Amino acid sequence: MRRRSELDASPPIHREMGDSLDRTVFHKSLPVLAARVPSPKAGILLKSEALRQCIMNLPKIRSVLQDPSGSKDARLVLFRVTDEADLPSEAQRFLREQSADLMIYTLNLNYDYWTADEILHAVLPEELCNGAPTGFAVTGHIAHLNLNDEYLPYKHLIGQIVLDKNKAVRTVVNKLDSIDTKFRFFKMELLAGDPDYVVEHHESNCRFVFDFTKVYWNSRLHTEHDRLVQLFKPEDVVADVFAGVGPFAVPAGKKGCAVLANDLNPDSYLYLKKNIKLNHVLSVVRPFCEDGRDFIKSVMHRAAQEPFPPYRDPKELKSRGQLKPSPTQAPALPPRELISHFVMNLPDSAIEFLDAFRGILSESDGEEKRNLGGIYNVMPMIHCHCFTRELERDVAERNIRARVEEKLGYNLTSDDEVSLHLVRSVAPNKEMYCISFRLPRAVAYA
Ligand SMILES: C[S@@+](CC[C@H](N)C(=O)[O-])C[C@H]1O[C@@H](n2cnc3c(N)ncnc32)[C@H](O)[C@@H]1O
Repeated sequence: MRRRSELDASPPIHREMGDSLDRTVFHKSLPVLAARVPSPKAGILLKSEALRQCIMNLPKIRSVLQDPSGSKDARLVLFRVTDEADLPSEAQRFLREQSADLMIYTLNLNYDYWTADEILHAVLPEELCNGAPTGFAVTGHIAHLNLNDEYLPYKHLIGQIVLDKNKAVRTVVNKLDSIDTKFRFFKMELLAGDPDYVVEHHESNCRFVFDFTKVYWNSRLHTEHDRLVQLFKPEDVVADVFAGVGPFAVPAGKKGCAVLANDLNPDSYLYLKKNIKLNHVLSVVRPFCEDGRDFIKSVMHRAAQEPFPPYRDPKELKSRGQLKPSPTQAPALPPRELISHFVMNLPDSAIEFLDAFRGILSESDGEEKRNLGGIYNVMPMIHCHCFTRELERDVAERNIRARVEEKLGYNLTSDDEVSLHLVRSVAPNKEMYCISFRLPRAVAYA
């Protein structure tokens, strides 16, 4: 029996390129069988059962073309074989019945035709083809790769292919192993494209602008940002101790929450302010640039001394078409002066900051500070992120709780509404959790 030959549309192999991409060598002429038929017949061929398995099915190639000889009344129907003899006999018979005029049409494929994966497989050494790095994260217009050592000799080649094949990407970087120990942003090197690192990234219906080489950002935390923001009620006051450029603070503000957002990195603070403005939450999100410990110690007093305006439901305001309450409206709410939530997303060391809560309400050093003891009927929730190398849930929970309790100088009980949430696995033996609990009175008044 004759073996049917399939079309080989794979790119030509060019493993000699080293680290510099030559697009011009990617050219392939692919002769394919075509049936020239009057235009109305093209549909009949496409729908016919006899030809169903034979019609052209290569990605991005149309199966019906205008007749290249210029006749407006004729079409070419392309097949996925080169030779008529490769068609099944019933297909050949059907084409004869239709008086189709068989010919060879040449497809010219070039660099633009193939996917990044196909090009990488054609240029990388064979032993590196399995596991070739086509996956990457995108932040704004920047694609960031995390290349394993064996791919580093080809990093510019890989970067250029990723850039060429992803229209929304303007810059391709490789994340280096080192992370800034203080402000947690990644060091990176340019692989291809514009050396422009100021991105505009969209998350949770908010716009974030920041310099990716100077501040922390991780799109993988999107779900965690959303999870906590969903916990907040629009009337809440939130203190974000390690706010970065605002992925908790800004969406919370958009929801109506009043937010005190802090970050010690001057660049994060700069972009946090920009993002507050950009997202029109100036009246409810206040930025600070302080050490987290100082911020924790002073923030409850700050909120009390300078309360936020009461929450007003934007829908209610819109439907009444007014900003001032009418006599029929619900009584005006009081200004917001009590913090309901602390967010502490600095997983490497946030637990170390928990001792700052000790005596936070009992201290009234300095006469100008109001004694807050009486006004906090409900204590704030604390959401503290952390890492652990314990992979078993129970062991991880005991480990995290013990570290938290040591810093608080207090053993958490069931009254403290403790819960633990697995945020993500950051490495094969490292997990990120968020422990939430209500600030114990015994700690706040210690
Ligand atoms: C892991 S990032 C989290 C940022 C943001 N909350 C998010 O979810 O993307 C931690 C942030 O804490 C800031 N930071 C580090 N040390 C700090 C400190 N001692 N006080 C305040 N902020 C600090 C860093 O600049 C960084 O922006």
